[in-house]
Amino acid sequence: MTDFIAGLPKCELHLHIEGTLEPELKFALAERNGIELPYSSVEDIRAAYSFDDLPSFLKIYYEGMEVLRTEPDFYDLAMAYLRKAASQNVRYAEIFFDPQAHTSRGVPFDLVIRGLRRALIDAERQLGIRAQLIMCFLRDFQAEYAMATLLESLPYREWIVGVGLDSDEKGNPPVKFKAVYERARQEGYLLTMHCDVDQENSVEHIRQAVEEIGVDRVDHGVNVLEDPALVETLRERGLGLTVCPISNGYVTDSTKADAIRRMLDLGLRVTVNSDDPAYFAGYVQENLAVLAEELSLTEEDLVQLERNAFEITWLPRHLKDAYL
Ligand code: HPA
Ligand code: ZN
Repeated sequence: MTDFIAGLPKCELHLHIEGTLEPELKFALAERNGIELPYSSVEDIRAAYSFDDLPSFLKIYYEGMEVLRTEPDFYDLAMAYLRKAASQNVRYAEIFFDPQAHTSRGVPFDLVIRGLRRALIDAERQLGIRAQLIMCFLRDFQAEYAMATLLESLPYREWIVGVGLDSDEKGNPPVKFKAVYERARQEGYLLTMHCDVDQENSVEHIRQAVEEIGVDRVDHGVNVLEDPALVETLRERGLGLTVCPISNGYVTDSTKADAIRRMLDLGLRVTVNSDDPAYFAGYVQENLAVLAEELSLTEEDLVQLERNAFEITWLPRHLKDAYL
């Protein structure tokens, strides 16, 4: 099955570019930027990666970004990810970035997006992997800051396919960003948002995202299974879910493999993704392998997961069809 997974043309739809910062690159960028890290080795950094819920992960995730300062830093970050993804036969990726995690510490938006964009262009040319950017708002910041970020993004509208919402979900429901999402839709962005696994109000948050915001897909969203009527709505609308098994295993007590099996059986457009692979030790291939092992997936199941993914991509129909 390992060979089958390796050979399968794959798609990644839930991937935070800042979550692909491997310890080796973290060290290299720290040195380039004259930053002293509080770790003496790559092993030291990895040893500090202990989290058991979303906030404990996010703390380490934001600390790690301190080394990202210049346009070439963002280029190198994205290029390293795209190289890794291409090596796993990922043909297409939709990549989240968190501009506020950078602008809030004085790194300009322009520099962040230019570095990422340049890597996407070079990777397509050099490696044949296609990718698009999704700009995420940090939900634990004020909605006004998200709106300001949305406006700041407009000169780069053609470089960004859609918007998302991430960071700490507790006390930060989708409706907090209703006006921001309305404006984003008017500007032509496609819409997604995290409804993280096993949050205080997961089902209500999925309902808000789908019914009140009108998202085009849902990131994570595993808890939808607790509400059969909401499952039906997602199915009717053909809404995709970007699920991340290894990540789930870190921030909850399980990969939620059984839930993924049920979603597949219910005909939901569930997909398998890696979230923050440098922190959760697994890119798309490893996520599929873990799931295949836990669920004894067949080759047909794996093909179905990748079909779902290509089907829910934010590519024009003719490009989608070329992958399907
Ligand atoms: N959830 C919320 N915020 C995040 C995540 C996630 O999975 N990854 C990076 N920021
Ligand atoms: Zn995520």
